[in-house]
This record gives sequence, structure tokens and C-alpha cells, in this order.
Amino acid sequence: MNQAPDAVAEHGHRRQQVLDGFAERCGTAAAGVWEAPGRVNLIGEHTDYNDGFVMPFALTRSAMVAAGHREDDRVVVTSMDLDETVEVALDDLVPFDAPGARPRVWADYLTGCLWALREAGHHVGGVNLVVASTVPIGAGLSSSAALECATIAAMVDLFGLEIDLIDRAHLARRAENAYVGAPTGLLDQAASTLCTSSHTLFMDCRTLETTQVPMDLAGVGLEILVLDTNTPHSHVDGEYAARRAACERAAGLLGVAALRDVTDLDEALATLGPDEELVRRTRHVVTENQRVLEAVELAREGRFAELGPLLDQSHTSMRDDFEITVPTVDLAVETAREHGALGARMTGGGFGGCIIALIPMGTGDQVGRAIAEAFAAAGYAAPEWFTAVPSAGARRIA
Ligand code: GLA
Repeated sequence: MNQAPDAVAEHGHRRQQVLDGFAERCGTAAAGVWEAPGRVNLIGEHTDYNDGFVMPFALTRSAMVAAGHREDDRVVVTSMDLDETVEVALDDLVPFDAPGARPRVWADYLTGCLWALREAGHHVGGVNLVVASTVPIGAGLSSSAALECATIAAMVDLFGLEIDLIDRAHLARRAENAYVGAPTGLLDQAASTLCTSSHTLFMDCRTLETTQVPMDLAGVGLEILVLDTNTPHSHVDGEYAARRAACERAAGLLGVAALRDVTDLDEALATLGPDEELVRRTRHVVTENQRVLEAVELAREGRFAELGPLLDQSHTSMRDDFEITVPTVDLAVETAREHGALGARMTGGGFGGCIIALIPMGTGDQVGRAIAEAFAAAGYAAPEWFTAVPSAGARRIA
């Protein structure tokens, strides 16, 4: 079964699952349930931490967190998916690099949010959290941001905090960066918090200005296929951090605050000339920013079919210049194109995970099966796929 289960039924079932799980484990009813989505990034990869532009939309795949107060100062987190519970006192929450900190586990994405809220001076007390998620882990669909943003939304309501949406995204990112130890940008948490249904979110990661761009693909007979290559990745490891460091080095050599500020690419590349690696990294970021700006213009005019070549160019740039794709991902992208995709690219941080393909409506299974066959022939694990519906950001659902 590669198609998403009936989304409405699944949603209701999972909400009940966390409510029942909460009642069973905590012996009392949850105060509510909060949901935050995973995302795909339509275009604009590794641009967020270069003060550039991104264009994600939220998925129906999401994390749901049932939450309630405790009388003590403990945070007790249960995953219905893993059937595991982690318990820690608020004062014992320490970032990954604190002396004696224990190795990070899944629950840290949730407990890290309480740490980040307290660090920012917000009052939070002990809580029970029961979570269930349908965002696949390590697939580049922001499973961790979904957990974080649902937790932040829950804490804001439970403790009556006044935190606007962009600051919620910042706090969730802080949990990921400083508490878990993954040096990511703001893309995922902004998408999971700020996206709205039927729209893609255009964001300037420097000014934090956002625009909701209507995304009626069906109206032009198109849809987005999301295919998980089942090549898991992690941002806690070194490659993501290495890309980030290279970008910072390049910006330093060019005398700009961030690669977003490069206005003359040829001149910049000439300056970096002796360092081939920095030339390639810089070329990716600068051209990718340009592609996002072109994509947002096309999307604003409803010219979605014309996004195809931009998606293709983005993939080539990630493959050859940023060097963050892997053979499974490249094969999936090529096969999608051979089977009717107007354009396709890896989405997310890279080194595995998912591709997105812009396809004629109704051809998702056909394209997915063609990729599955190509994977089988190459000896790769079977991929999974679904078609994406631009969905809402973090919110209370019960
Ligand atoms: C990961 C990070 C984001 C962003 C993307 C690449 O998803 O969490 O901040 O850098 O990679 O675009």
C-alpha cells in the first residue's frame, strides 16, 4: 500500500489514539491535542541558513501531541509509535553539549522545547505528553520539526504564553540546534508553524517576511508526488554541518554577511577561484536563491507547469555543486522524469530522504511504480510514495 490511507479517517483515529493513550497512561483526560505537520520544500534548499529564500508547504502527515499539566516538575513523554516513555525533571533538562549530558533520544525533540521556552524566560511547569506521528523519520520531511512545533503549540496554550508564530518557530529551532545539537536553519520549524492549507509559504529567511502563495495545482491538472527513497539520513552527523561551514567560509572570504548578499556571481566565483569546493557551494546557494525568486513569481501567476525546469535545475545544482544527493535519490529523480514528471528534485537536507516530482494529476502510482521497478533492478530497497496536499501549520485540534 503506497497510497496515503484515507486522510480524514486516519486523522480522527490518531487523535483518538493519543487521547486514549493519554487517559490510560496518565489516569486523567488530556487538556487537549495539538498537531503540527511535516513539510516538503518545493524549492530553496540549503538557502535558509544563508539568509536566503525558501518555499515549503505543509503535509497532511503530522505529529499529534496530547498534553496535560502535572502537579510536579517532571516532563513525561510517551511515544505511541515506539511504545516508550521518557521521564525527566525540568531542572535536569540540559543541552547536548553540557558536561555529562546523556546521548540524545527521540524524546529530546519534545523536552528540548520546554528547555528552550524556559531558557527564553517563559514559565512552564511539569507536563505529560503523549505523541503519535505519521511523518516518516529520517526521510527529509521534518519529522523532528513536527514534534517540536506541536509541543510548542501545546505549551503556549497550556501555560497561556504569548508568543507569536515566528517566535514559536525560533524556539522550536532553538530546541533542535542548541538542545538536540542539529545545526539546522529555520525552514522546517517555520514551515511546520506558519504554513496554511492550499498554500505554499514563501519566506525571506533574513527579513522573516512571509507570503502565503495559493497553490492550486489541481486547477491546472497537476500534483506533487513525494517519494521516500528509504535512504535514511540525519542532520546530527557531519555532512550538513560541513556544508554550512563551507558557506560561512565563502561568505567570509567574499566579505559579505551571508551568501544571500552575493550580487555578482561571476565576480564572487572568480574571487573564490582557487578553492573549487567553495566555488561549487557558493554557486549552488546563489543560483538556488534565484530559482526560488523565479518560482514564486510563476506560482503567484498560477503557472505551475513552468516550475518543472526550475525543479530540475535545483536537483542538478544539489547533485553537482552542493554534492548532497545520493545514487538512490538521483535514480528516483531521473526515473520520475522519464515517466512523465515535468520536473523533479530531492527535497530536504540531503544525503537520502525524499524526492518531489511535479506530475500530471492521477499519475502518482504510475510514476511511483516505475521508480520502484528501477530501484528493484538496481538492488535498492523499495521506495514508498504519496501525493501531497498543501496543509495547515501547527494548531490545536481537540
Ligand atoms: C534541513 C534543515 C533546514 C534546511 C534544509 C535544507 O531540512 O533542517 O534548516 O537547511 O535541510 O534546505
